[in-house]
Amino acid sequence: MNELEIKIKVKVFKQLHDLNPADLALMQAAKDALNNSYSPYSQFKVAAAVLLANGEILTGTNQENASFPAGICAEGTVLSAASAMFPNVAIKRMAVTVKSGKQIVAHPVSPCGICRQRILEYETRFSSDIEIMMMGEEGEVYSVSSIKQLLPLQFTGKEL
Ligand code: THU
Repeated sequence: MNELEIKIKVKVFKQLHDLNPADLALMQAAKDALNNSYSPYSQFKVAAAVLLANGEILTGTNQENASFPAGICAEGTVLSAASAMFPNVAIKRMAVTVKSGKQIVAHPVSPCGICRQRILEYETRFSSDIEIMMMGEEGEVYSVSSIKQLLPLQFTGKEL
């Protein structure tokens, strides 16, 4: 029996203002979009901003539904918007942030499992890694160079 140990690399920034100006602007775009969240059931606003290879910045927020599984995560919303509006353009960076109506979230919140798979599809489709930054309402910012850091042993669909 062999054992495979998988390590991931996460850059940790002490605070928002330690990001470089371009990344700070992307995270700020996500923060500005938080109020577009439709989250009456969880009171948990999530926003994602993406920087496309053509320089466009798009944002998306979580859109909930009384039938809970019909809700869409912020990351899913922005990926769908990017694919619908710019189907031939890769995404270079993504920033994700949250704001809870119940508590101050002072640590980074990272994409759910389904969104990790959605982001992977985008990377695979364009053969282009997406740098992902994550933060709560305040506190540290985590940054990974690709969704592969958050989703080891990916299912890429190569076998289909
Ligand atoms: N949510 C996101 O938008 N992104 C994630 O990666 C995690 C969860 C949303 C879904 C739901 O509207 C709310 O957060 C609470 O789960």
